[in-house]
Amino acid sequence: MRVLVTGSAGFIGFHVAQRLLQRGDEVVGIDGFTPYYDPALKRMRHAQLAQFPKFQAHEFLLEDNAKVEDLYRQGFDAVYHFAAQAGVRYSLENPRAYVEANLVGTFNLLEAMRQAPPQHALLASTSSVYGANTSIPFRETDHADHPLTLYAATKKSAEEMAHSYSHLFAIPTTMLRFFTVYGPWGRPDMALFKFVAAMAEDRPIDIYNYGKMQRDFTYIDDLVEAMLRLLPVIPPSPSARSGTASAIDSLSPQAAWRVVNIGAGSPVGLEEFVNAVEKACGQTARRNYMEMQKGDVPTTFANTDLLHALTGYRPSTPVETGVAAFVKWYRSFRPI
Ligand SMILES: NC(=O)c1ccc[n+]([C@@H]2O[C@H](COP(=O)([O-])OP(=O)(O)OC[C@H]3O[C@@H](n4cnc5c(N)ncnc54)[C@H](O)[C@@H]3O)[C@@H](O)[C@H]2O)c1
Repeated sequence: MRVLVTGSAGFIGFHVAQRLLQRGDEVVGIDGFTPYYDPALKRMRHAQLAQFPKFQAHEFLLEDNAKVEDLYRQGFDAVYHFAAQAGVRYSLENPRAYVEANLVGTFNLLEAMRQAPPQHALLASTSSVYGANTSIPFRETDHADHPLTLYAATKKSAEEMAHSYSHLFAIPTTMLRFFTVYGPWGRPDMALFKFVAAMAEDRPIDIYNYGKMQRDFTYIDDLVEAMLRLLPVIPPSPSARSGTASAIDSLSPQAAWRVVNIGAGSPVGLEEFVNAVEKACGQTARRNYMEMQKGDVPTTFANTDLLHALTGYRPSTPVETGVAAFVKWYRSFRPI
């Protein structure tokens, strides 16, 4: 298979590209190496992928429409779209970056796909689109119309843009709502990396909302497994359907488009998460308790019934195991 992976130097795009290459697929990766966090880490990830002869790397921003069109002329069987300005908190500081990458960048990709639709487009979204929904676990069929941050607003908008393109131009599309993904090669702006780095340098760790938070931490290998299993699960077009979709399916009545949660399905309290970090590091953390940050939500919790119905798979890696794998990688990456 010939697959386009956007954001291939990013945390999740790198892991998915690596698994595709390991199983023999051809991967064309594109990444803009944005400075949101140290691009050196992104270059190291791409250097890993460059060891595979079937990997082709491109460096530009998706906002550069001419380059997107030119690249897309190669034609692809499938597209994984991960490139985005990620991060909830940074969207308060630099909202424009979200509009450019997540709206304009995604639009340019959709326009390119319109010319020659892939068999399946899989686009990254986020649990943040559920906003402050209080009915947990979050289901794909729940309303998700009250984003609390511009990050969430741009990702929800990308879901809607993709729906219209799927309807108008017959692009079979799956939107993936990810829940706090962590693991080796993870992002320096996320809690696990920040905790381990602070502990290594004997600094206190910041714990928001006085530890009264829960996250549905999802281990990267589990997420990659789910992403690869979903690749052949192509949403059927309305005209090709027989019978009605099951009640849990988010399949659109108007398009070959659905949304799928990828989460662990078992939220973990922040204190419990820190305990796992302490155990893996063999060290006690100095805790700096802080107020909840603007735009944050107290709980995320994925209902994974649809993922299971479509793929027969649910994430299952315990947090202790995943955190230990991260710490092992971190120590080899930059010795503690
Ligand atoms: N990591 C998580 O916990 C998580 C949770 C929910 C959703 N997501 C989503 O998953 C996707 C991947 O996230 P990640 O954690 O790998 O983030 P990441 O920041 O590590 O990866 C994103 C990559 O996209 C690239 N990029 C950003 N803007 C670009 C642009 N305009 N043009 C080209 N490249 C650009 C960056 O250089 C980066 O390498 C994103 O869409 C993100 O919103 C991630």
